[in-house]
Amino acid sequence: MTEPLTLLGIESSCDDTGAAVVRHRPGAPVEILSNVVAGQTELHAAYGGVVPEIAARAHAEKLDLVTEQALSRAGVALGDLDGIAVTAGPGLIGGVLSGVMLAKGLSAATGLPLIGVNHLAGHALTPRLTDGLAFPYLLLLVSGGHCQFLRVDGPEAFTRLGGTIDDAPGEAFDKTAKLLGLPQPGGPHVETEAAQGDPARFAFPRPLLDRPGCDLSFSGLKTALMRARDAVVAEKGGLTRQDRADLCAGFQAAVADVLAEKSRRALAASPGITGFAVAGGVAANKTLRARLEAVAGAVPFVAPPLSLCTDNAAMIAYAGIERLRLGHTDDLTLTARPRWPLDTHAAPLIGSGKRGAKA
Ligand code: KG4
Ligand code: ZN
Repeated sequence: MTEPLTLLGIESSCDDTGAAVVRHRPGAPVEILSNVVAGQTELHAAYGGVVPEIAARAHAEKLDLVTEQALSRAGVALGDLDGIAVTAGPGLIGGVLSGVMLAKGLSAATGLPLIGVNHLAGHALTPRLTDGLAFPYLLLLVSGGHCQFLRVDGPEAFTRLGGTIDDAPGEAFDKTAKLLGLPQPGGPHVETEAAQGDPARFAFPRPLLDRPGCDLSFSGLKTALMRARDAVVAEKGGLTRQDRADLCAGFQAAVADVLAEKSRRALAASPGITGFAVAGGVAANKTLRARLEAVAGAVPFVAPPLSLCTDNAAMIAYAGIERLRLGHTDDLTLTARPRWPLDTHAAPLIGSGKRGAKA
């Protein structure tokens, strides 16, 4: 294996079709030569969530196109690559299968090593891609499909300290937006409304704070929000702009409080870490980022740019580079895994939302 390593990454586990070319030489910053993402938001808009069949078909249609774009934007030919990394799970099975089939085809045709990557490992290793963060570190993954605290000790060494037992926070933001008539995906809209609202007007629960440990729960919050909304509507016959802003602010404050307190506990349970990193779409939330940074205290806080927090193929290519360096490759028996926990020793999490298994 000659350094630097240049890998093609392919991602299709949820509702983003991605392909990217990433190059890295040990000790140097990671180079993202291209990072193409084709989203599907408009295809699912009418349904209020990701429809697996529609997602799978859209991935199958777009995958070779985005792969061609990624190679041409990077100015790299297949022959210049050192390997092909692909998300092999967890996620919506139809989409994962499409990506795995493409990667296998390319690997069979070129003889390049095939590297199956766990999508969650892609997110979990992103702070190394963006900031070169050294092991071990603590990661909070907060997205539309995932929510967990992971201690990251190596490219394939993850310990889950806790996670959601039902919805992911992004799902809760999206459902809140839906209940208040705001567009999808709801997170950014709820954040904008919340900025004009009074977080203290509605008393929302702080689920699981009364129990020890780092597990989280978000499904009760959406029920509380619905009740509060219905009470206002029953009293006044509708919601004013201010009512909506106050509901958003109260909801966001509850999510931030819970994530901040559970982060404090996860940090206390992680001696010797080099940093505390966040990843996932919800990590774009400014209120949340500020709270987490405050909780980190003296521990360096790493929040990658949004384009690398949300689903993308650059993180898959980079995780592939780390696996390839360990000499870990796959052959053509690689299969798509809808569920694939990073920490195989941790008890399975309960629940699986609209965006697929939480592993
Ligand atoms: O990581 P991501 O792009 O996709 C996966 O779920 O894997 O995350 C998307 C989620 C959506 O639920 C979206 O509403 C949420 O991230 N989100 C936010 C914000 N921006 C995106 N949630 C809260 N505040 C935001 N500013
Ligand atoms: Zn993801």
